[in-house]
Amino acid sequence: MADVRFLKVVVFVNSLIPLVLLLWDLYHKRVGPNPLQFATTTTGMLTLIFLSLTVAITPLRKIFGINSLVKLRRMLGLFAFFYGTLHLLTYIWFDRSFNFNSVVTDVVKRPFILAGMAAFLLMAPLAITSTNKMVKRLGGKRWARLHRLVYLSVIAAVVHFWMLVKSDTRLPLTFAFIVLFLLGYRLLIRYMPAEPNTSLFPRE
Ligand code: HEM
Repeated sequence: MADVRFLKVVVFVNSLIPLVLLLWDLYHKRVGPNPLQFATTTTGMLTLIFLSLTVAITPLRKIFGINSLVKLRRMLGLFAFFYGTLHLLTYIWFDRSFNFNSVVTDVVKRPFILAGMAAFLLMAPLAITSTNKMVKRLGGKRWARLHRLVYLSVIAAVVHFWMLVKSDTRLPLTFAFIVLFLLGYRLLIRYMPAEPNTSLFPRE
């Protein structure tokens, strides 16, 4: 129990470090000619990383048999939402100058913005229902069903990244493969009747 609490503190502090570094770089003007663009791309990448880590928890837990990893999932998901909110805010500020009508027009006009918005909006109900109280209120089964939205969110996020990259698609491709593997693994353990000790990725 004490180990898990320590692990949570370690993950919490480490998850804040990229934000501290970003603020440090912004403060010292080490962010190129366009600081808000820098903030948008950095927070976008952080959102995608935390979202992927959240989806990776169950496969990692099952493959390596580390059950306590599940205790980190909520925190990682909330960090994904936190960085996603910062990412959206920098876009509304830098790209749209806080003109909300123009945000709506942009969502309709640019498909990559639509995909990003879908990824973000799909995360919102998960963040809202992340408390123990909400798990109780919804009931475990309904809560778990609702939280499957994270898979749609991470797919939309990868599509968003893929669509916005103009030439070098290596990074979005890497994320696409990682997400495909993670979701494929989930499907595999859900629908394949694995025999003990013969499966490459055994059930618990
Ligand atoms: C789960 C939600 C989201 C994720 C994971 C995400 C992820 C990303 C990533 C990885 C990048 C590229 C960073 C880079 O170039 O290194 C990016 C850029 C960007 N995203 Fe998002 N995004 C999300 C939501 C949104 C939303 C809601 C909007 C706006 C409505 C948005 C607008 C943008 C813009 C304008 C850029 C910069 C494009 C450019 O460089 O020209 N994103 N995002």
